[in-house]
Amino acid sequence: MLIAGNWKMFKTQAKTRAFCAAFEPPGGVEVVICPPFTSLGAAVESGLTVFAQNVHWADEGAYTGEISAAMLKELGVSGSLVGHSERRQLFGETDDGTARRAEHALGAGLRVIACVGETEAEREAGATESVLRRQLAPLPRHEQLVIAYEPVWAIGTGKTATPELAQDAHAYIKTLIDAPVLYGGSVKPENAAELLAQPDVDGALVGGASLDPDSFAAICRAAA
Ligand code: PGA
Repeated sequence: MLIAGNWKMFKTQAKTRAFCAAFEPPGGVEVVICPPFTSLGAAVESGLTVFAQNVHWADEGAYTGEISAAMLKELGVSGSLVGHSERRQLFGETDDGTARRAEHALGAGLRVIACVGETEAEREAGATESVLRRQLAPLPRHEQLVIAYEPVWAIGTGKTATPELAQDAHAYIKTLIDAPVLYGGSVKPENAAELLAQPDVDGALVGGASLDPDSFAAICRAAA
């Protein structure tokens, strides 16, 4: 089981240090936190496993606003998210760009959590499986690659997928790629155990509920 906390654009360095001082991860589960770039160093100092929220596909170059795998590795960062739906929806990132980011990071020795998932309109149109196929097709196949299934309609909305719906999507994803699959979208201490009990749910990617050390620890305990 892997439980990853995606902090999005929350927590300064000072708040990151305060979280790490208060957070008590249980044994028996792998825990990762994904702070914003400026707080990565402070998070690494705590001894927790730290992933970035994005990574570029080049070692260096004229890419204003981007960060490379080598820069992350120098800080002691272990991996990165790629293709989060907020990157796709708000910043125009594509399936191919996500795949290039994943491929480069994996080649540089980082672990990668690649996010996939359908919007509400796509689900209502019966397009969930074709969207997942399209998003997964260009991703590299690699033993350090983890998939996060995050239905876009469940992110930050309080609308969690039912355990059965998550299980169906995870099982489908595993017919397309041989990788662990995390569930993400309004995971909370109250619903984590039921979601994590599904046979093809290999962990969780947690947004809002990962910002508080007690609620994140409760989710980690549900997985342990
Ligand atoms: P949420 O976010 O848990 O706040 O819904 C999940 C994510 O975006 O990774």
